[in-house]
Amino acid sequence: MDDPYQVQESLSKLKEEFEIALAQANTAGEVELVRVKFLGRKSPLAAHLKQLGVFPPDQRATVGKELNVLKTTFENKVDEKKQARLSQSVLPAVDVTLPGLVHPLGRLHPVTQTLQRLLDCFRPLGFEVVEGPELDYEFNNFDALNIPRDHPSRENFDTFFVDAPSPEPKKGKLLLRSHTSPVQIRVMQSRKAPLRIVVPGRVYRPDPLDASHSFMFHQVEGLMVDDRTSFTDLKGVLAHCLQRLFGPSTKVRFRPHFFPFTEPSAEVDIACTGCKGSGCATCGRKGWLEILGCGMVHPNVFRAVGYDPRRVQGFAFGMGVERIAMLTHGIRDIRLFFDNDLRFLSQF
Ligand code: PHE
Repeated sequence: MDDPYQVQESLSKLKEEFEIALAQANTAGEVELVRVKFLGRKSPLAAHLKQLGVFPPDQRATVGKELNVLKTTFENKVDEKKQARLSQSVLPAVDVTLPGLVHPLGRLHPVTQTLQRLLDCFRPLGFEVVEGPELDYEFNNFDALNIPRDHPSRENFDTFFVDAPSPEPKKGKLLLRSHTSPVQIRVMQSRKAPLRIVVPGRVYRPDPLDASHSFMFHQVEGLMVDDRTSFTDLKGVLAHCLQRLFGPSTKVRFRPHFFPFTEPSAEVDIACTGCKGSGCATCGRKGWLEILGCGMVHPNVFRAVGYDPRRVQGFAFGMGVERIAMLTHGIRDIRLFFDNDLRFLSQF
């Protein structure tokens, strides 16, 4: 086939054959077969390209150009057909008036949200967020906090003791901390005053599960120690934070109470979020809701960590995060937080 006219003739035949074959191809597989036949390594077109060398140089360019034009035409038509087949098979099935697919977005757990809001109340007042281990020693959880050996919360019923040898027998048995207060001890043992810390974390108590009790829940502990920290500071800090949390006009009251690690101690109530103080089912007709425990750090606690109680003063407080989350959102059963039911969780 060394005559350019002969080549042209055979090419137009090839083109005709190609058009027919492509028109008859109905599936993506058939289109692919057409491509292999007319554009593959063993196609007539490839054979022609290989033979270009037999033409004298002046004709070589013309023939070569024609071959390349044809090759591009074939390629484009095959691609077009493939696209068309694709869109034919997909497009008619798409109803553009249907609502789009919703990709479910994750969000923070309501307890985490409440925890972060709580910490955000204290951070601007200079309180640093510190964490401690959930597994701790009897010493940090009880002795150092001035909880005497015969205190009822020492009993197995109130604390999960861990059945493993203690790495530091002098600090007593290992347990799951029953409050975040042991972190006060850890921080004071490792740092000097002045201190302003808030400690979020999980705590454990072997309470039977019901609407208001869970064997695991979260607390936020606070501790401020300086050379002159007074009960007035405690009142100011807590009132500020509770009003930030529950609204600026929230009434706050301090009620005398007892904790072994603080003296004097108080429980803090806010006017009921349900009835604003007139009495309803949420507050048991009392008009007040108990929110947290607090007090001035007991001198024995300072002694246990090597601070001199004549030189430093401090206050501490502790609150339950689930309880606050329940009050802010009107949730009546603590178990809802831990069931992981998306119908509940996705509301926050
Ligand atoms: N640790 C106490 C509790 O769990 C709360 C508390 C902390 C009270 C600090 C006073 C001071 O009940």
